[in-house]
Amino acid sequence: MHTRVIPDAALRPFVLGSSHTARTLATNEVDFFEVLAPESLPVFQLINAGNSHAFGGLAVPAWVQLDCYSLPTAMIGWAVPQSLVPTDLWQVLLTGVETNFGVSLDHYDGLVPLSSYTALPSLEPGTVIGISLYSLVRGLGLRTKAAALARLGARRQIGLTQYGNRAVRTHTALGPLEVLAAQAPPHSLPDETFVYRIELDGTYLAALARGEPPRPPTQPVVHRVPIEPGRTSERIAVLAHRDRITILGVENQQLLIGELC
Ligand SMILES: CC(C)(COP(=O)(O)OP(=O)(O)OC[C@H]1O[C@@H](n2cnc3c(N)ncnc32)[C@H](O)[C@@H]1OP(=O)(O)O)[C@@H](O)C(=O)NCCC(=O)NCCS
Repeated sequence: MHTRVIPDAALRPFVLGSSHTARTLATNEVDFFEVLAPESLPVFQLINAGNSHAFGGLAVPAWVQLDCYSLPTAMIGWAVPQSLVPTDLWQVLLTGVETNFGVSLDHYDGLVPLSSYTALPSLEPGTVIGISLYSLVRGLGLRTKAAALARLGARRQIGLTQYGNRAVRTHTALGPLEVLAAQAPPHSLPDETFVYRIELDGTYLAALARGEPPRPPTQPVVHRVPIEPGRTSERIAVLAHRDRITILGVENQQLLIGELC
């Protein structure tokens, strides 16, 4: 994760998708990369390498990124010209592309994605399922998720994350996370993972996407639950069994819990 500040004016919104499914996202305001076009391949590969780096080396297989991410929906984020990417980060991305795809992008001088969010439409109209968020530059994660949800016109977002993930703070900045399941038995991290739903507000998403600060939660905090591997989910499960609870934020390694009427 880089702390170097990238000038706002250099950030370019991009969409990696297909004109067969995401034509409405190919507006003049964004760089639209047609995922099936050979010239978009470096962007596809750089997102793969960036995502893998952010997730500690966990690479998404190329076919999954095509079949499940960029064809049914779109990968949406911010990019900068290659010359503005910090040298050490560029080396990480080059190595990732070489490892995952066996090709060299040494001479690439196009746009380089620094963050991306992917959400799939669900069978509930207006509800999307978030499947991947990453940011290689501190401070882009929240803007990326907000901008992508706004572009998708989502009204509700369902997602999964781990109680101890830094992303919980990012997600709660969009609104209270209603806990739908305190544990996720089929997940590879069943006891650390919870399922949440956020009611979205388009005007607020647009403000966050512009880089405006998140607003504080309006619901009162009724419980504080320490984040402790293996124990948090049991405590949340007990609370969620009694009431419809929300996660409002994170403070001093504690989850701030609210209640829905
Ligand atoms: C999770 C991840 C995307 C966060 O991205 P980020 O760019 O570091 O962070 P954000 O954009 O959310 O936060 C930037 C700023 O927004 C503000 N902010 C975010 N959430 C906030 C909240 N709930 N309340 C107040 N301020 C908040 C803070 O000022 C924060 O600054 P900080 O760095 O001092 O905390 C990034 O760390 C990442 O890629 N992680 C690895 C992959 C991963 O785990 N993805 C999530 C899977 S669910």
